[in-house]
Order: sequence, then C-alpha cells, then structure tokens
Amino acid sequence: MMILWQTTPIEEVFPVVRLFRYPGPAIMRHSNDLSKTLITFIKRNVRNVFHRVGFDIKHYSYRQKGVWNNPPSTKKHQEISTIATYSPWLNDSDFLETYNQIKEHTLVDIYRCYELWALGKQTSDIDGDILEVGVWRGGTGTILAKAIKNISGKKVFLADTFTGVVKAGNNDTCYKGGEHSDTSINIVKRLLASLSLSNTEILHGIFPEDSHNRINGNISMLHCDVDVYTSCKDIVEWCLPRLSIGSILVFDDYGFSGCEGVTTYCDEFREVKGFRFIYNLNGHAIFIKIES
Ligand SMILES: C[S@@+](CC[C@H](N)C(=O)[O-])C[C@H]1O[C@@H](n2cnc3c(N)ncnc32)[C@H](O)[C@@H]1O
Repeated sequence: MMILWQTTPIEEVFPVVRLFRYPGPAIMRHSNDLSKTLITFIKRNVRNVFHRVGFDIKHYSYRQKGVWNNPPSTKKHQEISTIATYSPWLNDSDFLETYNQIKEHTLVDIYRCYELWALGKQTSDIDGDILEVGVWRGGTGTILAKAIKNISGKKVFLADTFTGVVKAGNNDTCYKGGEHSDTSINIVKRLLASLSLSNTEILHGIFPEDSHNRINGNISMLHCDVDVYTSCKDIVEWCLPRLSIGSILVFDDYGFSGCEGVTTYCDEFREVKGFRFIYNLNGHAIFIKIES
C-alpha cells in the first residue's frame, strides 16, 4: 500500500524543527548541517515504521522541481501520476459489471475503459454508428456496445484482421507486424453473446481495405487501437468524409512508449482544421470534430 506524502515544509509539521532551521546567527552554520541530519533521520525512521506495517511513503511535489523550471527536455516520456482521486467508475454498477465481464479480454486499463464507456454514451445525439478498429479479444468493443445498448438504431462495427497488427513501418519503433494475433472471431462472438449484445457487426480483415463497404452511414465515434502509424492514417482518412459534427476520435496508443507511430500520426493530425484535441493523461488522444 502507498501513502502520498505531500511536501509541506517539515517545520510546519514538526515546529521543533524551526529551532534547528532558524537559530541565532552564531550557530547558524553548524545548525544547518545538524537540521539536515535530523530531518533525514526523522524521515528515514518514519518511513521504516510505515514499512514495517506494510505501507510506503511517496514523496509528492506539486511543483515537480526541475520539470518546468529547466529548458525544454529532449526526453519525450516520464512517469505520469496525478493527485486527482475522484473515481466515478466506483459508483457506476452498470459499468463495473460490464468491466468485470470483459477485463480478461482487454489490454486496456479501467481508466481508459471508463472513458470509452462515458464517451460512447455521449454519442446518443451524434449522427452515425461507432467504429472500433483493433478489437483483439473484444474487451473495449464490448464496453462500447454495452454503453450504447439502449440507443436505438446505433451500432458498433468491430474491425480486426484477427491475425494481428499490419502495416508496421519506419515510424513505428517496436511493432514489426503480426503482434496480438492470439485471438479469433469466435472469442469475440462468445463474449458478446455472454452479455446478450446484438448491436454489433464484426468486420473481418484489414480496415479499411477489406471491409469498409459494410459501413454505409456516418461515424459518430472512432476508437482506433491499431498500434502503428500507417493503419491509423488509413483508417482516419477513410473516416474523415463520414464524420458527423460532434463526432469523437479516440486513439488508444498515443501516450505509450513503444507506440511512437501513433503519437507521431496524432501530432500530425493536430494540424488538421475543424477538430479540438485533448491529451487525456490516461494515454488517450481524443479529437472532437467541431466544424466541417
Ligand atoms: C492492441 S490490439 C487491440 C486491443 C483491444 N482494443 C482491447 O480491448 O484490448 C490491436 C489490434 O489491432 C488489430 N489491427 C491492427 N491494424 C489493423 C487494421 N488496419 N485493420 C484491422 N485490424 C487491425 C490487430 O489485429 C490487433 O488485434
């Protein structure tokens, strides 16, 4: 277990430390050393006590020293943590029940699953169906289908090669092609049937080339989870003329080391006019179409 230790000045917590930190000038030099030693001693022992009973103390700074005081870094990744704690999924029994049924069928964590759930529900007044490309064992696709189960006339297209990732290229740092082939159409069909969902259509093959002609109407939401640059680009270019105003594009892989192709593509797409962009710190890139 972990406790967040916020950087309140130590002397505010233990006023006695003030005596060591702000003594008279005559003993200032020596006492500075003494106070540092004492503070280190106290911190180490407090931490040891917590360790013994199964907790840890994590030093947390609002100010994130050294991050934005310094010149821009060439580094593109650092661990992201947040002090936000509000977790509406804990009180959403419909979501939790669904998540528990799909969690062994997804590579996507509960934060991104909940976001898909919440965004899917918001498509009720946006013209068009939902398209997910990158289904694997059906986890996130099922979340989306369940989220819109009561929206009449709307369905979720679930597109996958079912033989793994395709179109890996020079923009992709880790993917070579063929990853995530450990699935099948039947695995996805069984999952959907176990939740009695009939508002989906499975598209087998490379999207858009092999299966796009099965979609006739507009798109209200795209969930693009295909790991590589060229697949993302081809999918988005197919979607562009079919996107309704207000439609939502979610890119699963944007924030993750190893998926640089998707990050590169989304950063290029930010230049396209007519969209708002959000980097959700759960890793998702989100675009909302606001005008033609
Ligand atoms: C990371 S997995 C998807 C994970 C899934 N959304 C989940 O809930 O865990 C990526 C999937 O994208 C599929 N894929 C990649 N490029 C594709 C393309 N152009 N057309 C169809 N499927 C594609 C792969 O076959 C693979 O199953």
